[in-house]
Amino acid sequence: MIIMAAEGGGAGVACLGSGDIIRSTFISRPGQEVRDMVTAIEQQYIDTHPGSAERHATARGLFPDGVTHDTRRLKPFPIYATHGLGPHKWDVDGNRLIDYYTGHGSLILGHSHPDIVEAVTTQMARGTHLSASTDLEIRWGQAVVDLVPCAEKVRFQSSGTEATLMAFRMVRAYTGKTKIIKFEDHFHGWHDYAMAGNSVLGGIPEETLSTMIVLPPNDISLVERTLSQDDDVAAVILEPTGSHMGHHAVTPEFVLGLREVTERYGAALIFDEVVTGFRTSKGGAQEYYGIMPDMCTMAKILGGGLPGGAVAGRAEIINMIEMTGDPEHDSRRRVQHNGTFNANPLSAAAGIKALELVANTPVNDTANAMAARLKDGLNDMLSRSEVPGCASGVASAIFLRLGVDHECDRSVCILSPEDTAVIDDAERKNQLELAMMNHGVHSGNRFIVMSVHTEEDIDLTVEAAERSVNDLRKQGLV
Ligand SMILES: Cc1ncc(COP(=O)(O)O)c(C=O)c1O
Repeated sequence: MIIMAAEGGGAGVACLGSGDIIRSTFISRPGQEVRDMVTAIEQQYIDTHPGSAERHATARGLFPDGVTHDTRRLKPFPIYATHGLGPHKWDVDGNRLIDYYTGHGSLILGHSHPDIVEAVTTQMARGTHLSASTDLEIRWGQAVVDLVPCAEKVRFQSSGTEATLMAFRMVRAYTGKTKIIKFEDHFHGWHDYAMAGNSVLGGIPEETLSTMIVLPPNDISLVERTLSQDDDVAAVILEPTGSHMGHHAVTPEFVLGLREVTERYGAALIFDEVVTGFRTSKGGAQEYYGIMPDMCTMAKILGGGLPGGAVAGRAEIINMIEMTGDPEHDSRRRVQHNGTFNANPLSAAAGIKALELVANTPVNDTANAMAARLKDGLNDMLSRSEVPGCASGVASAIFLRLGVDHECDRSVCILSPEDTAVIDDAERKNQLELAMMNHGVHSGNRFIVMSVHTEEDIDLTVEAAERSVNDLRKQGLV
């Protein structure tokens, strides 16, 4: 079933034939216009993804918007994938895609890495949950301590959302203070505290939000002023390369400034390394920048492609969970933490193998080299096509920013709010994502590069981007 109505024509707009057409006002992204016309990009996507369209029609009766993760919404419908191998994945219509969504950033080793498959299948036969402590959790915890500079002690959870929730609780218990400073648009999962600053706040109590302070990033004097005027701040948390995996960058100077002012005012500094951990470098962004936070949160690569999260950091903060024998601490101040799947054997087996490969093979260097090739290729393509924009990003997370001419060092790209609004245009983003898929790439405007992407994959990706930008131009979107 196709989920759009055909009307009119015009430049870059195609008409669907009669048949299985359903009118839809489905909007995939906030700010996106409701349109009745099908664009040429959409028509090509619809023609080549009938199986996904059919499944989405069923899924809409099961799940809100037909999806199980807010960012998987896509107009007119998302793809339904069957399997992945290395840098590629396939959809139900048999289309092969070079994948840059990469398990939402959890797969630096590629899909179905043979060592991980073996580790998980071996463990599967030995038991998925033994309701007991295991050697696996010790090896997994040790791997984290060995790789992550700030990690004196570790506690596992099952996701990044749980990790930041636990970090907030630990640091509040440790300092006896309530408030947490976070930065606009920085994503720390979907629990009530982490959502502060978001425009979509349904179901979140005002009382919870009032314990959070949301500041614009890259303004260290504002952070300092806030800390100096409020002695109830327990911690400052940020995505250390910028919000949304580095899309809206922060400068290294700002991060360094945060280290200095938090130390001075007695607040903890938390790096949310759910994305950057084991990616930006073996030891994450903290190692890459040489800045030691008090704590960090991790997930994604940590679990080797299976669910897993962790908080690590200074032992005295992580030890807020520990029983001390002091009745006042143990029965009142202590942090309680349960969780059926904490350090479960399957995630631990996958995570140990992934971290072993990160520690002992040049996974990060290879992914970074491929990302650098992609960045260069995309920037050359933009110049050739005379399209304003840039490709920039730190380590293996690259962003294609279309729509504004701007100065940028291709690593840390800082844009004005006005330029950011242009670059984040919802309609262009949606059309770009579809066009890239039409040309064999699943990326949108973000490319999370893995160690298994080859030079050939990268060059094909640049070609796909050139064709996509051309398609966008015909629709007046660049
Ligand atoms: C920086 C950051 N923190 C936390 C999270 C939440 O992690 P999870 O989706 O595992 O709950 C994400 C998810 O993408 C993230 O990017």
